[in-house]
Amino acid sequence: MEHYPIVLALSRAALQTPNTAVENHLRRLIKALEKDGQAEQADGLNKLVRNTGKSVAIQPSRVVLSLAAMGGEMLTPSVKPPVDKETSAPLAEIVFPSETLDAHPIFEENLSASIDSLLEEWKNIDKLKGSGINPALALMLFGAPGTGKTFLAHHIARELNYPLVVAKLDGLISSFLGTTARNISNLFAFANRYKCILLLDEFDAVAKLRDDPNELGELKRVVNTLLQCLDTRNNIGFTISITNHEALLDPAIWRRFDIRIEIPKPIHQTREQILLRNLPKNLKLKKSQINFLTWITDGYSGSDIAKLSNFIKRKIAIQGSKFDFFETVRSYIILSAKDQENNRRQAVIGRPEELAIELNRDPEHSMSQEALAELFGKAQSTISRWLKSEKKHKE
Ligand SMILES: Nc1ncnc2c1ncn2[C@@H]1O[C@H](COP(=O)(O)OP(=O)(O)OP(=O)(O)O)[C@@H](O)[C@H]1O
Ligand SMILES: [Mg+2]
Repeated sequence: MEHYPIVLALSRAALQTPNTAVENHLRRLIKALEKDGQAEQADGLNKLVRNTGKSVAIQPSRVVLSLAAMGGEMLTPSVKPPVDKETSAPLAEIVFPSETLDAHPIFEENLSASIDSLLEEWKNIDKLKGSGINPALALMLFGAPGTGKTFLAHHIARELNYPLVVAKLDGLISSFLGTTARNISNLFAFANRYKCILLLDEFDAVAKLRDDPNELGELKRVVNTLLQCLDTRNNIGFTISITNHEALLDPAIWRRFDIRIEIPKPIHQTREQILLRNLPKNLKLKKSQINFLTWITDGYSGSDIAKLSNFIKRKIAIQGSKFDFFETVRSYIILSAKDQENNRRQAVIGRPEELAIELNRDPEHSMSQEALAELFGKAQSTISRWLKSEKKHKE
């Protein structure tokens, strides 16, 4: 279909508030596209309709009169980022797409689909602008620590083949009066000059200052400068901001971001995928062992899962054929005290009989006696005895 990106953007705008009539028309369009063999486009629209009303707040493109296409000079490794005038500390670090790992964070299906749809819009920015539609260029990522927000920002930049200008907030915030606001202006002026994505990671450090009673005056000015800079940038280039503390953000700043995506902790299917990606391919875990790992990692972030996987890798490297899966997981749980306090943790540290019953009655995993026998390396009759004696013990 000609002008597909525009249709996609319009559809997203129309579905911002769920609307059955629009959804029905879109379903007709999807069917027509499928009939014409335009499977990819049909799939894109289908994802959009499926995600209507979901918590991921991908907002519509803003239609404005501007016809200026995405401009800016090319950033090359010889271009130096701006520096703080007093300390000479760089205000940003530039990361080129070739320096980013060719990997993407793993998210659950609906979130991935929404991110793909945003990427499609951003990849077609010139087409949209050429048609008089100015797309939403500012994205806010928020959510718990270690869930893959920074990873996602780097992935987006790589997909778009844009360099990332990563603001260094420690260099940006100065103890000299007036300097922080000037640094922010200089940073934005630099980003606006080049074709790039401006990444403001741990964004709350600057944005929250306005309400801090100890830091009035000067800091109010900093936030106001930031607001002005964001307003100008919104018509010029991509900005991605990241925070773990969205509640601390100034509402005025929050409103500057048309697209806001909450990155949650992974659900169990996602945890399984992250584990399988991080664990050595030649480990050949049994189904019951993978199931056990996804169970014990409930409440873990992607980063916590990567840490557990690294621990397992280290043990394999040291112990070789003597590697004991169950003992390794148990010692990790003991060594990572306070990281993830849940009763699953206690069950792993405690008696195997108790752990078996927990795994057996868990509604999501519900491990059969056969699976438990495989996991514990025991006969099924032993597991059956454990379960019966535990049930009695509990009565
Ligand atoms: N969703 C995910 N899929 C795959 N790996 C992940 C995911 N989330 C986190 N990880 C792993 O954890 C590491 C750290 O993630 P990242 O730095 O992106 O988290 P973050 O959300 O930015 O955390 P913070 O809020 O603490 O800055 C990644 O490099 C990756 O190895
Ligand atoms: Mg981060």
